[in-house]
Amino acid sequence: MWPRRAVLDSSKREAKPVTPVVLIAEELAPAALDVLAHDFDVRHVDGTDRAALLSALGEADAVIVRSATQIDAEAIAAAPRLKVVARAGVGLDNVEVAAATARGVMVVNAPTSNIVSAAEQAIALLLAVARNTASASASLKNGEWKRSRYTGVELQGKTVGVVGLGRIGTLFAQRIAAFGTRLIAYDPYIQPARAAQLGVRLVGLEELLRESDFISIHAPKTSETGGLIGAKELQLVKPEVRIINAARGGVVDEIALAEALAEGRVAGAGIDVYVKEPCTDSPLFKFDNVVATPHLGASTHEAQDKAGLAVAKSVKLALQGEFVPDA
Ligand code: NAD
Ligand code: MLT
Repeated sequence: MWPRRAVLDSSKREAKPVTPVVLIAEELAPAALDVLAHDFDVRHVDGTDRAALLSALGEADAVIVRSATQIDAEAIAAAPRLKVVARAGVGLDNVEVAAATARGVMVVNAPTSNIVSAAEQAIALLLAVARNTASASASLKNGEWKRSRYTGVELQGKTVGVVGLGRIGTLFAQRIAAFGTRLIAYDPYIQPARAAQLGVRLVGLEELLRESDFISIHAPKTSETGGLIGAKELQLVKPEVRIINAARGGVVDEIALAEALAEGRVAGAGIDVYVKEPCTDSPLFKFDNVVATPHLGASTHEAQDKAGLAVAKSVKLALQGEFVPDA
């Protein structure tokens, strides 16, 4: 027995410690890569290339994603060494948290990193829809000078309905209030007193749909919120309503919204997120009164730095076996 143990011991001494692999599945701010580069084997994969992702996960100790990469039960099963899934942003709807937890894999995100950017994107879309900014710009660049065609509406005195009065909904409400709007909100999970502090009246969804001149969605995508604003709900709105969705695709049903726009039951929409992304073909794209952006809510230098740094620090702590505080 003795000689054999010695051999084993010496082979252990000679074995090189394996550097943990951190797999980056979507673009990450350079500052975040700097945090990881020294201690980890940082590898890159296109998270939307499913076969490449599953293969790369085979050696990953951590994976960092934004919203385009699906980390579901299959992905977790393909990653036997995985210890942490990091979401460089807010929404966790592309991560199957229950499957990760069942395997003992930690899930971290950066819940406040991009909330200002997302709220500002919703404001930008709302103003652009109110004033026909995108279609007027396209028309002018096309050699046309059509001032009356692009007559818009003011915000002052209008009722703005916020669906989901959480972090982003609150920042949105505070900012849009400065335009002299009246604010109402639908959020079954917050207290009326909290809304009142913000100068917002909490109402039921039906009342919000009937009263709003603008509706802005800030609820997460959950089993409850998929299709929350669908064909039935769009029958209740004022014809002059303008709907903004910079939260998640599918909370507003795209087909139902396209039908309502075609029938003049909705005056315009500002859409940043789609049921299926990337999205280059939507029934909404044919409307002049729709302003569409390719999921840009968090796409600012500030938000990307904050999100990337927060999750890079969390991944580093997790892989070093340290306590991971809330980002
Ligand atoms: P949050 O958790 O702080 O707030 C969400 C709010 O929605 C909560 O107050 C919650 O009570 C409410 N809510 C939950 N279910 C609801 C329902 N059925 N009806 C109405 N309200 C409901 O989250 P947040 O930081 O404000 O972010 C909201 C969402 O915005 C994220 O989940 C994400 O999907 C999206 N987001 C998008 C972008 C983007 O790039 N476009 C950027 C950041 C976040
Ligand atoms: C988020 O939930 O944080 C946003 O959708 C932004 C992103 O995915 O980058």
